[in-house]
Amino acid sequence: MAWTSDLDTGIETIDQQHRKIVDYINALDVATRKMDSAAVGRVLDGLEEYCHTQFAFEEALQVKVGYKHAKSHKMVHDVFARRMAKYRERHKAGEDIADHLHEALNSWLLLHIKREDKNFVPDVKRSMGEMVKDDSGEDWLSRSVAGFFGKSR
Ligand SMILES: [Fe+2]
Repeated sequence: MAWTSDLDTGIETIDQQHRKIVDYINALDVATRKMDSAAVGRVLDGLEEYCHTQFAFEEALQVKVGYKHAKSHKMVHDVFARRMAKYRERHKAGEDIADHLHEALNSWLLLHIKREDKNFVPDVKRSMGEMVKDDSGEDWLSRSVAGFFGKSR
């Protein structure tokens, strides 16, 4: 599976983060083909980390720019994170959840990234000009990226 431009939000930082989901789907495909349960576990571990950092970043950004659906967006993130945690538990208990996880990631890409994430982009873009003007814009964004993901990303 490859990234397609219809998944782009237009904010490079966020698009880079979102591309990771495609990486996870591909890693999951490889793991499934090889029937490598440990590799499925690594995808699940990666996703746990992803939910913590990427979601927190988006949520902080939305609050920063005053996005009016920030609260419900966070709720959607929380539901997804809980779902991932459940898959992790079931996987640890020895269940083969790869197909279900694959399905969940696919619909996350199509429904959440394409629709719900794109919704807050206009607010970010609008605020970006103001943030740059008051000298906290790009700085805030790169500082936050470094804070959430580590400098190397
Ligand atoms: Fe989101």
